[in-house]
Amino acid sequence: MTNIPFIPESAPFNAEQRAWLNGFLTGLFSQVPGGAPQPNAAPPKAGEPLVILFGSQTGSAEGLAKKLAKESESRGFSPKLFALNDYEQANLPAASKAVIISSTWGDGEPPDNAVNFWNWIKADSAPRLENLNFAVLGLGDKNYSDFCGASKKFDARLEALGAKRLAPRGECDVDYESPAKTWIDGLWDKLSEGGAGSPLPAGAANGTNGAHGVTHPTGEANGASKPAYGKSNPFPAKLLRNVLLNKPGSGKEVRHYEIALNGSGLTYEAGDALGVVPVNCPELVDDIIAALKAKPDENVKFGDNIMSLREALTHHFDITKPSQEMLVAVAKAAPQSELAALIAPEKREDLKKWLWGRQVIDLLYLLPAPMLVSEFIPLLKRLIPRLYSISSSPKAHPGEVHLTVGAVRYESHGRVRKGVASTFLADRVGDTEFVKVFVQPSHGFKPPANGDTPMIMVGPGTGIAPFRAFLEERQATAAKGKNWLFFGDQKKDTDFLYDELLTGWEKSGLLTRLDLAFSRDQEKKIYVQDRMRENAAELWSWLEAGAHFYVCGDASRMAKDVDAALHKIVETAGGRSAEDAKTYVAKLKSDKRYQRDVY
Ligand SMILES: Cc1cc2nc3c(=O)[nH]c(=O)nc-3n(C[C@H](O)[C@H](O)[C@H](O)COP(=O)(O)OP(=O)(O)OC[C@H]3O[C@@H](n4cnc5c(N)ncnc54)[C@H](O)[C@@H]3O)c2cc1C
Ligand SMILES: NC(=O)c1ccc[n+]([C@@H]2O[C@H](COP(=O)([O-])OP(=O)(O)OC[C@H]3O[C@@H](n4cnc5c(N)ncnc54)[C@H](OP(=O)(O)O)[C@@H]3O)[C@@H](O)[C@H]2O)c1
Ligand SMILES: Cc1cc2nc3c(=O)[nH]c(=O)nc-3n(C[C@H](O)[C@H](O)[C@H](O)COP(=O)(O)O)c2cc1C
Repeated sequence: MTNIPFIPESAPFNAEQRAWLNGFLTGLFSQVPGGAPQPNAAPPKAGEPLVILFGSQTGSAEGLAKKLAKESESRGFSPKLFALNDYEQANLPAASKAVIISSTWGDGEPPDNAVNFWNWIKADSAPRLENLNFAVLGLGDKNYSDFCGASKKFDARLEALGAKRLAPRGECDVDYESPAKTWIDGLWDKLSEGGAGSPLPAGAANGTNGAHGVTHPTGEANGASKPAYGKSNPFPAKLLRNVLLNKPGSGKEVRHYEIALNGSGLTYEAGDALGVVPVNCPELVDDIIAALKAKPDENVKFGDNIMSLREALTHHFDITKPSQEMLVAVAKAAPQSELAALIAPEKREDLKKWLWGRQVIDLLYLLPAPMLVSEFIPLLKRLIPRLYSISSSPKAHPGEVHLTVGAVRYESHGRVRKGVASTFLADRVGDTEFVKVFVQPSHGFKPPANGDTPMIMVGPGTGIAPFRAFLEERQATAAKGKNWLFFGDQKKDTDFLYDELLTGWEKSGLLTRLDLAFSRDQEKKIYVQDRMRENAAELWSWLEAGAHFYVCGDASRMAKDVDAALHKIVETAGGRSAEDAKTYVAKLKSDKRYQRDVY
């Protein structure tokens, strides 16, 4: 890849000058393979429109789209940046250049803020897009069977509608930053063919030559200074409290954590998530080193750094989920193993079943002879941060952030297994070990801006987390709006998380309604959506009064069933047809009155 010189933030230029110089250098060096300057680069067509659309649930694709928009400005484009759902669809047939950056959620589905756009574009009634030149970048996770599924759908559908692909679709796994940058760097030549994309003189470069500034739907300032701590430099925070929320006899282990943010410069809002950088379990690290018959202080490479094997396995690599490459390598080295028989593409579903409850250590035990450390390390994925919905309002707990986390523990194939981050928090963060954190803004999953607007919150299990924050926020701001919470878990006696707080809020009137669904207190399961259906007429009247509807918790089943119940309520209590109920709920989404934080 071309090595493009870059003016760092520390250089003696203001943001405008830096943007122009960086644009100039990128334009100059990206024109020619090898980075040699190209004096005869195509002249810029100042202010050429570029539509940049993102589909993003937790902000990664949105962050990339914002970076792309900024860089495109410095290259002379006039970018328009929108969440896919917020883009005026009628404008697409007339648009000439568009870049879509989208993550994938659920099982190969677009994120919430792209669903309406997808429904529109996939319909038979979608317009032809012969005028459009497009490129799609996907963010995903190879652990999911439909890797980058949403971006595949967008890419194929745009082509089917007659749009011309400017560049092959890009795909990024969880470690997305570097591949995304490579893809974007390769895009400029394609985008600039016959138009902008080359550096412009100062002024024109940052959009000050016209009214074409980047549209920031979240209102975030362009080029605002960043706090020193963030995703790329997480803050080592002290854990102040770790409290088990379940009572003795429960089948669950949900914990409430209070973490100090003092001195970090980190700020958050109710609805945001906290990124936690986990540390692997030391016993598992020992077991892996033993299975490799290696020495813990042996040197290994992580990126450009050399460190001990123990350090790398403890802090930098995912030592639980095997990569595809590791599966293939182990199958090859152990041709008689069950795994080897499942590696063919047509055995994909069987392989998935076989892998459930198995981890990297189980693969090492399949090998007839230990793998060399130098072969093993490149087969590992990076250890990535876990996100947790913040369960506090900063107004109620200045300088602190609270989490509500279910510890993942299970036994399989004769081994006790532990979720990496949830048990790191539960068992090991304490007096000597800090927890590295950053704030992941939620982009939309927030209490209504108007304190008078009613809120309906559906949050069973750990899904209660953000709603504790929403309610604290409403209490702290003396908001007058009505609040209705649906909470559920297995058993009332042992799993009524935050019971005193919630019943206290019901008594004080902060919670206008608290509806509970304990699934295992009776023979027949009762879930939150049953309580919604029982109260269909009232729920409908709240929606009609402008209530915002929020869901948090399990994505695989609960969120889908709650969504189906919501549609049914619009049909039955609202007297709509199934088709009209779909339109009603889609409108709730596009009006940002239906927000989900599901995982
Ligand atoms: C936006 C967002 C907000 C979130 N908010 C919260 C929150 O508020 N509270 C919360 O608790 N979580 C929350 N999560 C989930 C959280 O990020 C982690 O995924 C979760 O804590 C598990 O991480 P871990 O590192 O402990 O487990 P991991 O090491 O990642 O292990 C989890 C994996 O273990 C495997 N597994 C689990 N159980 C079994 C079993 N019985 N048998 C076999 N295999 C099994 C599965 O493959 C599962 O994916 C949120 C996620 C997102 C994306
Ligand atoms: N992506 C990840 O990495 C990850 C990690 C951790 C957890 N999770 C998900 O997050 C969820 C949250 O876990 P949690 O322990 O807080 O709560 P949970 O397992 O969702 O359980 C909370 C309550 O919801 C009930 N429930 C089960 N199925 C439901 C459905 N279809 N509709 C409505 N309610 C339903 C449960 O009942 P019963 O149990 O009695 O059926 C229980 O009463 C987990 O289920 C898991 O799927 C994901
Ligand atoms: C609940 C959940 C479901 C996901 N489903 C998929 C999937 O089906 N395919 C995929 O490639 N990635 C999947 N991902 C991974 C995300 O797309 C990935 O983390 C991405 O970087 C998130 O980007 P965003 O922050 O812009 O939403 C899933 C992630 C979560 C937490």
